[in-house]
Amino acid sequence: MNTSSSPHAILFACLLWTIIPNTSTLTIRCNPFDKQALLNFKHRLIDPSNILSSWSTQHDCCQWKGVTCHNITSRVTQLTLPCSTTLPSYRDTEDKSHCLTGSIYLSLLLVELQFLTYLDLSNNDFLAIQFHYSLHSQDSHNNLSVATTPLPRPSLNSATLRHLDLSYNENLAINSLQWLSNISSVEYLDLSHIDLYKETNWLQLVTTLHSLSKLHMRRCQLQDMSSSIQYANFTALERLDLSENEFNSELPKWLFNLNFSITGLDFSSSSLKGPLPEALLNFRQLEFLDFEDNNLDGPIPYWLGEFQVLQILNLGINMFSGSIPTNLGNLSSLTFLDVSSNNLSGIVSQKNFVKLSKLKTLWIFSSPPLIFDFDSHWIPPFQLEELDISFAGPNIPVWFYTQRSIERLYIEESSFEAKRKFWNLVSRMTGVLSLRSNSIDGNLTNVLLNATFIDFSSSALKGNLPRLSPNVVIVDLANNSLSGNVSPLLCDQKILNEKTNLVYLDVSVNHLCGGVTN
Ligand SMILES: *[C@@H]1O[C@H](CO)[C@@H](O)[C@H](O)[C@H]1NC(C)=O
Ligand SMILES: *[C@@H]1O[C@H](CO)[C@@H](O)[C@H](O)[C@H]1NC(C)=O
Ligand SMILES: *[C@@H]1O[C@H](CO)[C@@H](O)[C@H](O)[C@H]1NC(C)=O
Ligand SMILES: *[C@@H]1O[C@H](CO)[C@@H](O)[C@H](O)[C@H]1NC(C)=O
Ligand SMILES: *[C@@H]1O[C@H](CO)[C@@H](O)[C@H](O)[C@H]1NC(C)=O
Ligand SMILES: *[C@@H]1O[C@H](CO)[C@@H](O)[C@H](O)[C@H]1NC(C)=O
Ligand SMILES: *[C@@H]1O[C@H](CO)[C@@H](O)[C@H](O)[C@H]1NC(C)=O
Ligand SMILES: *[C@@H]1O[C@H](CO)[C@@H](O)[C@H](O)[C@H]1NC(C)=O
Ligand SMILES: *[C@@H]1O[C@H](CO)[C@@H](O)[C@H](O)[C@H]1NC(C)=O
Ligand SMILES: *[C@@H]1O[C@H](CO)[C@@H](O)[C@H](O)[C@H]1NC(C)=O
Repeated sequence: MNTSSSPHAILFACLLWTIIPNTSTLTIRCNPFDKQALLNFKHRLIDPSNILSSWSTQHDCCQWKGVTCHNITSRVTQLTLPCSTTLPSYRDTEDKSHCLTGSIYLSLLLVELQFLTYLDLSNNDFLAIQFHYSLHSQDSHNNLSVATTPLPRPSLNSATLRHLDLSYNENLAINSLQWLSNISSVEYLDLSHIDLYKETNWLQLVTTLHSLSKLHMRRCQLQDMSSSIQYANFTALERLDLSENEFNSELPKWLFNLNFSITGLDFSSSSLKGPLPEALLNFRQLEFLDFEDNNLDGPIPYWLGEFQVLQILNLGINMFSGSIPTNLGNLSSLTFLDVSSNNLSGIVSQKNFVKLSKLKTLWIFSSPPLIFDFDSHWIPPFQLEELDISFAGPNIPVWFYTQRSIERLYIEESSFEAKRKFWNLVSRMTGVLSLRSNSIDGNLTNVLLNATFIDFSSSALKGNLPRLSPNVVIVDLANNSLSGNVSPLLCDQKILNEKTNLVYLDVSVNHLCGGVTN
């Protein structure tokens, strides 16, 4: 049937023609004031790799890189210019030489772009924030010194901005956050990795932001948690990230007077001390609680078991003592539990895990190892993806063999017997296999390994070298009692793999013979 000639089709075509207006009227057109404001902002920063090359007068500013306009009014509503960097694997610092640098003229953006709601300048290399600027400077000459001429000084004021992300501008230091009170509408604020060492009044200033729901101040060199303050007025706060600071104090009183609707607290690596106060129980909606790497002490509180919606509980690397309370077995929403590297003692049994059916990551390494007393018929309610454990042996807990999804296994400082059943399970793992510094009674002859990262160093292993699949990238078998010839493993690598991925192999300090031949 020829549908194009049907009356319906013709009618439909006519309707389309009349409903859809001239496409040129649909095209979003840049507002000239917004365009000038963006150009002024561009002329005051340094753009070494011409990231903003699309920001030219010839183009519609709504099409410029990082700029989003409102789809009806065509006013600029979002500016999203995070620098993309790739973390180099063997160096600490990222290369940011191509990122935006110089000064951020914040008031220029927030005053001139009257409808801006979203500003993301994260991960660049800005060196300063400027508030005062001359409106009538010769911007096209790109003369930076005119920017500081104190002619008109429009003050920073925005009632529209909701999202401000200046994080990871590592060379940026801000001496005062007084200006925060001029952007009182902000709901999301991320100042992570900015040096705020000199702003000792940070809490009083952020707490004036009554709409703030997410605050990230990770690694800001904050030192004072304002412990003397009793109430902080963030009534809308849901997420608080103060990790990687140097507070060197107990959790402050103001924290426990926050709104009960808080869902996430991150205080990892922030030099906290003292016990965990029961007032934390105010926050029944907590999903995320991270206290890793502090100096917290006292017992792991039994009342932590009352957080019905808690998904992440990280208490690792602290000085908690006593046993792990069985009440933690009530945390039925938990996916991540880390209690490793504390000063714990006592018995761990299936009672600790009764309702943990969603658990994916368990870190329970302890030195010396905790005492395990699991029923040999116990089948855990969970299937783990990551396990970090230590145990006294001589046997591996039987429930270990029920786990079919482990991708990252860490066993350290343990003493146990590894039979065929153990190696069969371990052979199936494809991620990280770290069994270092153990005393393993086991024989690696004919064991085939398929994990990307393998570290079996200093674990008293016997037999011949294992076989390695093409998946393997890094292998450390040093300081064991392995014997036999190296050649089969090396030849295997050549024959098996058209493309071997192996980049690191250490078999030193064993009883091997043979060598590399062509
Ligand atoms: C404009 O954007 C909003 C969401 O921001 C969307 O709901 C709406 O449909 C869009 N309107 C047009 C005409 O595209
Ligand atoms: C920048 O402007 C100032 C003041 O208008 C002027 O003195 C200076 O020469 C200018 N510099 C350049 C590089 O144009
Ligand atoms: C913030 O607003 C006040 C009052 O409007 C003003 O005096 C002050 O200069 C503003 N701060 C900045 C950094 O512009
Ligand atoms: C919180 O608000 C109350 C009442 O508005 C005020 O008295 C108190 O000083 C505020 N606290 C802080 C830390 O801003
Ligand atoms: C907590 O936050 C909710 C929602 O933002 C708000 O309605 C409520 O008044 C706040 N409660 C307190 C005690 O501040
Ligand atoms: C939580 O666990 C403890 C001990 O395992 C138990 O006595 C208590 O009844 C449990 N509470 C709830 C609410 O399930
Ligand atoms: C470890 O815990 C024990 C009690 O279980 C205590 O006597 C000891 O002082 C604790 N050690 C540290 C370093 O906190
Ligand atoms: C190794 O793991 C990969 C998945 O990463 C899988 O495709 C392959 O079949 C495995 N090889 C062996 C020998 O088990
Ligand atoms: C080698 O392993 C033994 C235990 O098997 C350990 O005592 C020793 O410290 C290890 N040596 C090195 C250099 O790691
Ligand atoms: C390891 O196992 C192989 C084969 O199963 C056996 O021939 C060898 O003697 C064993 N080595 C040791 C040290 O037990």
